[in-house]
Amino acid sequence: MVIFRASYQFHKMNNTKIAGLGFYVPEKIITNHDLEKLMDTSDDWIVERTGIKERRYVDRKTETTAILARKAAERAIADAGIEATDIDFIVFATLSPDYYFPGSGVLLQRELGIAEKGVPAIDVRNQCSGFIYGLSVADQFIKSGMYKNILLVGAEAHSLGLDFTTRGRDVSVIFGDGAGAVILQPESNPKKGILTTHLHADGRFAEKLAMLSPGAHAGIHGNGEKYGITGDEEFETVIVNEKMLEDALLFPYMNGKYVFKFAIQKFPEVIMEALKTTGYNPTDVNLVIPHQANLRISQYVQKILRLRDDQMFNNIQKYGNTTAASIPIALSEARDEGKVKKGDLICLAAFGSGFTWGSALIRW
Ligand code: UT7
Repeated sequence: MVIFRASYQFHKMNNTKIAGLGFYVPEKIITNHDLEKLMDTSDDWIVERTGIKERRYVDRKTETTAILARKAAERAIADAGIEATDIDFIVFATLSPDYYFPGSGVLLQRELGIAEKGVPAIDVRNQCSGFIYGLSVADQFIKSGMYKNILLVGAEAHSLGLDFTTRGRDVSVIFGDGAGAVILQPESNPKKGILTTHLHADGRFAEKLAMLSPGAHAGIHGNGEKYGITGDEEFETVIVNEKMLEDALLFPYMNGKYVFKFAIQKFPEVIMEALKTTGYNPTDVNLVIPHQANLRISQYVQKILRLRDDQMFNNIQKYGNTTAASIPIALSEARDEGKVKKGDLICLAAFGSGFTWGSALIRW
């Protein structure tokens, strides 16, 4: 009798660790008083409703989203003690890409001088939740053993596409430019690194916080008339047209109150989801780093979860809402200030356009 012995090769699943991080914000500081000169707004209104005092804007002659990303990435690469050529995968989260297509991931790859290596690059289009979505994607690739040095970046150059008249004041005063980057590597200790990630979306609210044009929707989701699209002309260009330009419909739109209401519900919910999954309580967390949407939102979340001041990190006062960049900027800055230490339990959470939301729990 011949006995066949099957040979199974088990792949030991690693955790993912943040091996390096860095951020870059443009040098140009724009205060609330600077915005007062452009539109009917006030420092008092902005500070009271959002907590923001100033934000950074790119140098229009030298900086784009991909270039901000490269500056942050260079710092993260140095922090991890690796070379750009060691990177085997790029994940780029942004809502303000350099081009409609291709994504900014390939531009970052070129900027880093590693294009000849053919390193793959994907763009993540999940707005304020982009970094958490990107982190979860990267985590799966590390766990599966496919990649060993992933560069994940969140970057935005909002100031190149905002309406700086009174018409756009509810949106324009909130957003700022910047980039944050992390290097992700395998972590063999199962109690360290990314312990869990949680992603959610609800497309019923897609148009509550959105930039609908330019876009290939042809008015089909119910916005045709407003955007001057009838669908009657077979070869009419609908991605962008003169009416959109004339009526200033190429700017982001936000129903602020609606977004706010959901945000203060979903942030605590998704943070608790990460804690419950891993058997922790809010008191166990050393630092919660929320997407910097609005200081009032963070304060609500802190109150609902009964977190102490030292458990909550906010830097929106200095940078405004930098969307996909806000969490990696905040994480970098918190680490640099000594607020993220070895062994700490760190919770990241985001909510925003889509609607999309998510969380990640990390043992540092
Ligand atoms: O990161 C992605 C997720 N985004 C968010 O989480 C944003 C969530 N929403 C918010 O942060 C807030 O809703 C805003 C900060 C956007 C607005 O604050 P609000 O307390 O909801 O104000 P509002 O929209 O109800 O506006 C109150 C008033 C209005 O005037 P009337 O109608 O009361 O006369 C606005 O026209 O404030 C006016 N207003 C402004 N006034 C001065 C709106 N924007 C401005 C402005 N300066 N920049």
